[in-house]
Amino acid sequence: MTRASPKSFQIKSYGCQMNVYDGERMAGLLEAGGMIAAGSSGEVDLVVLNTCHIREKAAEKVYSEIGRLKREDGSRPMIAVAGCVAQAEGAEIPRRAPSVDIVVGPQAYHRLPELVAEAGRGGRGIDTDMPLLSKFGALPPRRRPGPSAFLTVQEGCDKFCTYCVVPYTRGAEVSRPWTAVVDEARALVDGGARELVLLGQNVNAWRDGDGRGLDHLIRALDRLPGLERIRYTTSHPNDMSEGLIRAHAEVGTLMPYLHLPVQSGSDRVLKAMNRSHTSASYLRIIERVRAARPDIAISGDFIVGFPGETETEFEATLEIVRAVNYAQAYSFKYSPRPGTPAAQMENQVPLELMDERLQHLQALLNAQQLAFNRLRVGGRTKILLERAGKRAGQIVGKSPWLQSVHVETMAEIGQIIEVDIAAAGPNSLAGIHAAAAAG
Ligand code: 5AD
Ligand code: SF4
Repeated sequence: MTRASPKSFQIKSYGCQMNVYDGERMAGLLEAGGMIAAGSSGEVDLVVLNTCHIREKAAEKVYSEIGRLKREDGSRPMIAVAGCVAQAEGAEIPRRAPSVDIVVGPQAYHRLPELVAEAGRGGRGIDTDMPLLSKFGALPPRRRPGPSAFLTVQEGCDKFCTYCVVPYTRGAEVSRPWTAVVDEARALVDGGARELVLLGQNVNAWRDGDGRGLDHLIRALDRLPGLERIRYTTSHPNDMSEGLIRAHAEVGTLMPYLHLPVQSGSDRVLKAMNRSHTSASYLRIIERVRAARPDIAISGDFIVGFPGETETEFEATLEIVRAVNYAQAYSFKYSPRPGTPAAQMENQVPLELMDERLQHLQALLNAQQLAFNRLRVGGRTKILLERAGKRAGQIVGKSPWLQSVHVETMAEIGQIIEVDIAAAGPNSLAGIHAAAAAG
């Protein structure tokens, strides 16, 4: 059965920031083909579900979402499943959910318009290839970046942590070339971005063809006129080079924030996870980073209930959290993922025990986050205004330490202003506009 080619689309991104970035690139691609982005899925012709496969809960979400896409009159939009579930499950998806028209993996989404055309002709478009040539070259330039824009510089992972699907869904570690990144950065800044967030599954493993690392790239971007702030995420401890640590001391636009996942504080668990670092080597890196930039906010990821994790091993995680004193963190119950070595391991930890440990860990992390936020009260800080707040006249900006700051101001989104921090909660700060700030 053929159907009219879709004119409007909606993209829903789940999971990590790279998916958000990919969603923006797909939107640009569809717009370049003449389609229009629409706000709600009720009326649109094409819905793209840009999925995440990292934990079971995230992966299962796609199927409930597909079920919800039926309209009142029984019809449904054209449905494309993109992202990491598409890569991991491929043709299995339309077998389980026959209303899916298109399956497109994260390395193939430059082919989305062709797949949409194919589906319009009544076919089913499936592409989960991982071509050697980068998809980025085949994409149109981006329009309308916000004040803070994501920029993928590196994709994939060669580390093969035993719990993780990323090496299978996103493929091998690939760095985008220097000129491609700098050109895109310049275009984003020319388009109005004042902050760039460099993205990669192992962003600090980024390498140029001639061996220059992420610190060189950051130093080059620092010189871009109009660019005020640089961030990068997410990093692996083993790729935390001396040069990158030094950049935190020397590059003014590099924000004092580091997301450096450790996952566990137990060396036995870290080994079983194939993390190839120890709790002590991680702590040494944190020490060096803090020596370079004493006020830096440290953020992390944790998994509780990795197979075989004992009470004592879990205690070691609490111990490393106390030793680091995090500004912010993400913590998860271990979720066995198909095809990963850890899913085959014996001694899977019962769910109730994981729940208990997660609660315990999160209570500690939340207390640290609140304490970190409270450090700012009474001080003055620069914030980049990013979006409208809930109340009229209120704008939400970001501090250098990535805290959300609510402020009432006549200043505009995209400006950097100085605020006096009046109050701190667990998730945000409240400030009073003090002055416009240059840079
Ligand atoms: N189960 C639970 N958490 C996981 N993560 C990755 N894989 C799993 C899994 N199988 C977490 C890690 C990683 C973050 C992105 O997600 O903490 O750093
Ligand atoms: Fe989820 Fe990982 Fe894919 Fe991001 S790269 S969407 S976190 S599975």
